[in-house]
Amino acid sequence: MIDAVRETARIRGWDPRRVRYEVFNAAHHPGDTDFAVRLRSGETVRVGAGVTILDALEASGVDTLSDCRRGECGLCVTDVLDPHDGIDHRDSYLTAEERGTSTQLALCCSRAAGQLIDIDIGGTAKNLS
Ligand code: FES
Repeated sequence: MIDAVRETARIRGWDPRRVRYEVFNAAHHPGDTDFAVRLRSGETVRVGAGVTILDALEASGVDTLSDCRRGECGLCVTDVLDPHDGIDHRDSYLTAEERGTSTQLALCCSRAAGQLIDIDIGGTAKNLS
C-alpha cells in the first residue's frame, strides 16, 4: 500500500520529499539469495540471504557509516564501481533517477541483482574467513 501511495504521488507530480511514510524492514525479502561485494582493495565479502551488505561488512571488520539502517537517512549510501548484473534498490533515500544510474546504493538494505557488486569502499576486511 505504501508503494502504491508513493507511485500515485509520483504520477501526480508531488515532490517526493513531501510524501511521509514509514519503512518496515526494507532489507529482507523472501527469496533473497547470497551474493558478494568486492571492495576497492580487491577483497570480497559474502552477503548471506538474511544479511545486509552493511551487516556483512561490519562483521568482516570493514569501516562503514550508518544511522537509520532502514534506507531512509542516506548515511550508508556508497558509490558503486561496477553493478555487474544490477542493483536491487530497497532504500527510500535515492531518487528514481539516481537508482536508474546504478552508481550508488544504500548498504543497509539494497542488494545485488546478480552474484557480485564492486563498491567504492576503501580499507580492508579484517575478519575475512
Ligand atoms: S543507514 Fe540510513 S540509509 Fe542506510
